[in-house]
Amino acid sequence: MSDETTREFTTVGVIGLGTMGAGIAEVFARNGYAVIGVEVNETGVERGRQHLEHSTGRAVKREKMTEEQQAELLGRITLTTEMKDLAVADLVIEAVVESLAVKKSIFRTLDDIVRDDAVLATNTSSLSVTEISTANSKPGRVVGVHFFNPAPVQNLVEIIRTVVTEPDVLADVQGLLRSLGKNPVVCGDKAGFIANTLLFGYLNHAVAMYEGKYASREDIDAAMRFGCGYPMGPLALLDLIGLDTAYEILDTMYKQGRDRLHAPAPILKQYVTAGLLGRKSGRGFYTYEAPDSPVVV
Ligand code: 3HC
Repeated sequence: MSDETTREFTTVGVIGLGTMGAGIAEVFARNGYAVIGVEVNETGVERGRQHLEHSTGRAVKREKMTEEQQAELLGRITLTTEMKDLAVADLVIEAVVESLAVKKSIFRTLDDIVRDDAVLATNTSSLSVTEISTANSKPGRVVGVHFFNPAPVQNLVEIIRTVVTEPDVLADVQGLLRSLGKNPVVCGDKAGFIANTLLFGYLNHAVAMYEGKYASREDIDAAMRFGCGYPMGPLALLDLIGLDTAYEILDTMYKQGRDRLHAPAPILKQYVTAGLLGRKSGRGFYTYEAPDSPVVV
């Protein structure tokens, strides 16, 4: 489908249909690719379907897409609980929870399912792509493709190459992402990659500032929006990312790099333990009526 690739990508598998996985599936379907979305059970499939309907429904409401186009887009996505349905995929992107054990098990299982020339990718935000890739018998065909939230909107995708990623795999994935209108950047396999390494020190600092009662959440966020032109303040952005995800990213970066900027602010762990995960749970630094609703408290 892309002019620049040597492989022809037509069918893309996405494993895990949470916020990121569903967003990634939407991006490919919007660009004409056939998508196979895999979840562990029917509940996961239903959640994925709702994500997709909600996100594309928003585009219809904003008159960016007609109802017919929405139906066509959704028609390009097949949702299933069967990993073996990925046998026809040219590329499989794994976007499940940030657990090395779970991801490795998926990459091991894919060995017996996908074609030898299929490319495998992980959307991990902080785990070692190299370690994940070793679970597959062909680690040279594995790359990281790190999308940003919300995936249909944010144009950056980080491609993570390991020391054994084959150059043609890297070039083909770069071409494919460009064909989606994304801006791919390439980096090595170090926790946080480029953007999260820079971003999360700042976000963590904002949490510490809030925890120390130095300023209100609204004022911290307003300072960065109106003073620095950021589209969202740091605390609102953390709610969007998910506080559990943010904690895991910081913790992994801190354990790997020992940079104290990344030592998670204690209140972050307390929020996660208390089930305050941000937009997805209805409450984080702010309270939400629904995942995309304006702040109500
Ligand atoms: N899903 C799909 N589309 C969405 C969306 C969502 N959750 N939220 C907003 N959009 C779309 C809207 O439909 C709209 O599309 P349109 O221009 O075609 O009509 C467009 O985005 C703008 O939305 P809004 O007008 O409602 O709101 P804003 O202009 O305030 O934009 C935002 C919302 C895009 C979320 C913007 O505030 C933003 O860019 N925030 C920063 C997000 C960011 O920094 N993301 C990176 C996080 S780090 C990360 O993901 C890494 C990971 O490892 C944690």
